[in-house]
Amino acid sequence: MTYSYQILPPTELSDSTIQTILRLWQVAEWKGMDTETFRKFFSMSEFHLLMDAGEDNLQCIARINRAFTLKIEEERYTFAELVGLVAAERGKGHGKTLMRQICHNLRERDIEAIGFCSNALRPFYEECGVTILRDRAHYIYEQADARWIPSEDDDILDLNLAPENATRLRALNEHNVAYFVA
Ligand SMILES: CC(C)(COP(=O)(O)OP(=O)(O)OC[C@H]1O[C@@H](n2cnc3c(N)ncnc32)[C@H](O)[C@@H]1OP(=O)(O)O)[C@@H](O)C(=O)NCCC(=O)NCCS
Repeated sequence: MTYSYQILPPTELSDSTIQTILRLWQVAEWKGMDTETFRKFFSMSEFHLLMDAGEDNLQCIARINRAFTLKIEEERYTFAELVGLVAAERGKGHGKTLMRQICHNLRERDIEAIGFCSNALRPFYEECGVTILRDRAHYIYEQADARWIPSEDDDILDLNLAPENATRLRALNEHNVAYFVA
């Protein structure tokens, strides 16, 4: 089987692709979201798709949020953030194929990007050739109900970081935390 890799803004996703993505994501609050709402809600994102060439089957999807900002020691750093990576069928190499394409594409476009994962998924990202900043995600705080709480993820994924920003994120610890501000 040959595949095609596509990058689309939400405005170019068809109704049926949007419904397939929502089904794969299984996020309760987004279930049943209509096309117009989806396009507005994800207007700051681009969608990376692995499709069967010739057919229109979506095999794997990921979203790149272009507006992810962290505040570290009063300075703001904006990265692209990988989220919503899901394979339609697990264990067929689609996740790895899409991740490798995405990392290559981010490097080509010189886009600094990060992602997050639980330690259970380290072996997968290692297989994809991603540099893993182990146990650094705990030091990224998010706002929830007017309180700052640590991220539930374990690792930060360095998908394409400038060396100084990789060093900055690697240096996060209990005395030097980052705040997710947008
Ligand atoms: C994570 C996910 C995208 C991986 O996609 P996939 O197509 O099933 O993975 P692949 O077949 O490309 O696997 C590539 C390699 O990673 C390994 N791997 C895949 N999933 C793994 C897992 N959950 N834990 C450990 N290793 C894993 C495979 O063994 C494989 O190794 P191999 O090349 O030596 O055979 C997929 O399991 C999925 O959709 N999971 C649910 C959503 C999710 O957790 N997304 C990630 C959020 S950070």
